[in-house]
Amino acid sequence: MRVMIVRDYDEMSRRAAEIVKEQILKKPDAVLGLATGSTPLGLYRYLIQMYKNGEIDFSRVITFNLDEYIGLPPEHPQSYHYFMFENLFNHINIKRENVHIPSGIAENLEEECKRYERELKEKGPIDLQVLGIGVNGHIGFNEPDESIETKTHIVTLTEDTINANKRFFKSIEEVPRRAITMGLASIMRAKKIILLASGKSKANAIRETLKGKLTTKVPSTVLLLHSNVTIIIDKEAASLLTDKELTNVELID
Ligand code: F6R
Repeated sequence: MRVMIVRDYDEMSRRAAEIVKEQILKKPDAVLGLATGSTPLGLYRYLIQMYKNGEIDFSRVITFNLDEYIGLPPEHPQSYHYFMFENLFNHINIKRENVHIPSGIAENLEEECKRYERELKEKGPIDLQVLGIGVNGHIGFNEPDESIETKTHIVTLTEDTINANKRFFKSIEEVPRRAITMGLASIMRAKKIILLASGKSKANAIRETLKGKLTTKVPSTVLLLHSNVTIIIDKEAASLLTDKELTNVELID
């Protein structure tokens, strides 16, 4: 595992954007795995800028999003569909048919999970997966539990996640209780993974991830088993790391 500790959120976003750009330049029909939430917003702003400057072309890029809330239609401002179009897709030349996001309003949600998994298999593997991390160590919406389903599945969100995400809704009652998420196996099939984290609220999750011990209580620890993971964190997210965790990783500039 490589860890890059950078000055702040902007630097984290810029470094991540450089990695995405490099991937697209190397493979113009790259398959990207994308996340939503506050963390990748800066990365998406940089990618839009790079597109506008003519540095990257998304016309052949394929994307798969990690997750979607169950019950929110694509036009709902808090749905992850809406988020992705608003914050990235509407501003770049990606083709609509190359965008994949699980549907949270499918009539048969179990079938939707299977369909998404099939699409991932057919069009994948993902070349570069972008991840954020929950305060409880979730990646995608793979929440801490005794056991975790490995393929795309339906999850019940934990109180930690509902509390963390209530900031986007008018009240906590409006936060959906369930979501569809790509599973850990689907994430781990990605050829390369970058995990971004910024701010003090993520410091504990980052320390738990880097302790070197695999546990379903901290789903992000599964990344310890992947051979090509780069964690890009700002100083605040790195603030609880001690020598013990840092000896487990390769620090890069
Ligand atoms: C979102 C996702 C989640 C978020 C995580 C952090 O698609 O998969 O795992 O990355 O909840 O969210 P933020 O970035 O809002 O702190």
